[in-house]
Amino acid sequence: MKSKIHDYLEEVRAFSATETGQLEQFRLRFLSKKGILNELFEDFKVLPPSEKRETGMLLNQLKTLVQEKLDGSREKLEQQWMEGMLLPDLTLPATFMEPGSRHPLSVVRNEIIRIFAGLGFSVAEGPEIEDDWYNFSALNFPPDHPARDMQDTFFISKDPDILLRTHTSSVQVRVMEKQQPPIRAIFPGRVFRNEAISARAHCIFHQVEGLYIDRHVSFADLRQTLLFFAREMFGPETSIRLRPSYFPFTEPSAELDISCNICGGKGCNICKHTGWVEILGCGMVDPNVLQNCHIDPEIYTGYAFGMGIERITLLKYLIRDIRLYFENDLRFLRQFTAAF
Ligand code: PHE
Repeated sequence: MKSKIHDYLEEVRAFSATETGQLEQFRLRFLSKKGILNELFEDFKVLPPSEKRETGMLLNQLKTLVQEKLDGSREKLEQQWMEGMLLPDLTLPATFMEPGSRHPLSVVRNEIIRIFAGLGFSVAEGPEIEDDWYNFSALNFPPDHPARDMQDTFFISKDPDILLRTHTSSVQVRVMEKQQPPIRAIFPGRVFRNEAISARAHCIFHQVEGLYIDRHVSFADLRQTLLFFAREMFGPETSIRLRPSYFPFTEPSAELDISCNICGGKGCNICKHTGWVEILGCGMVDPNVLQNCHIDPEIYTGYAFGMGIERITLLKYLIRDIRLYFENDLRFLRQFTAAF
């Protein structure tokens, strides 16, 4: 029995593991229920007393050695694994990372910013959660205006009225309250309306507001700025027309149409066979609004406009279903990898 134990001692001393599977095999071979050590201890029980002392010592030596070997090898393997994680093989080829693409709404928003930046407009932003003053009252909405209705607007609280802004015109008020003219800026952002979601309407969409306040700003300045924008955005052959309209915060107010860039004005589905498509609302800032923001309407005049980014994007990329913008479908988004 002693020579058997000596053989095992040799074997254990020589053992080394390069992976955890080998370690487990080693453990089972020596330490499992039917393993070598248990077997040896069984044999030990029936030894004549004269042999017990020396064999017992050898047996304990083997047991300790097996445990030490197991612990030591496990630690070594763990360390090797950690090092492998921290210091990967630098000669391996890199993992391929597919380049993403900008969302089409971001592409178009950036293009709008670029065009107006060229005319000296800076960019500002306002909060998406507004109160009644910034979204309605300061903008000259009468107290019973239907846009204030709970049906149209997402109210967070009533009294005080806190709501999700229904347009970016609220940022006009925030900027004018803080800054005296000249003011020349655009305000891109997300807006919210209680609309049933369909191919043509969504409860979340995006706008870019424009505001220019100074001495002697006229409707002709507005028209020329919008013509420049339309031609930069949709091509130099684009024409525009302004139709009289109404907004509480502009006087006079107008809607801007561009000649349909899809059919070149000949008539198609998009322009409903009129040759024109509406892209924004605009007008001269109402003197009441200037006054609400502590700007003297006797000295200053200005214009404002507001456009829907989804609508401009539809015309640029012929996206006929507004829901596509919000679904995160990669088959849709990947079509814009070339745009930036
Ligand atoms: N806020 C208006 C809307 O959401 C658009 C607009 C902006 C009109 C500025 C005139 C001036 O429809």
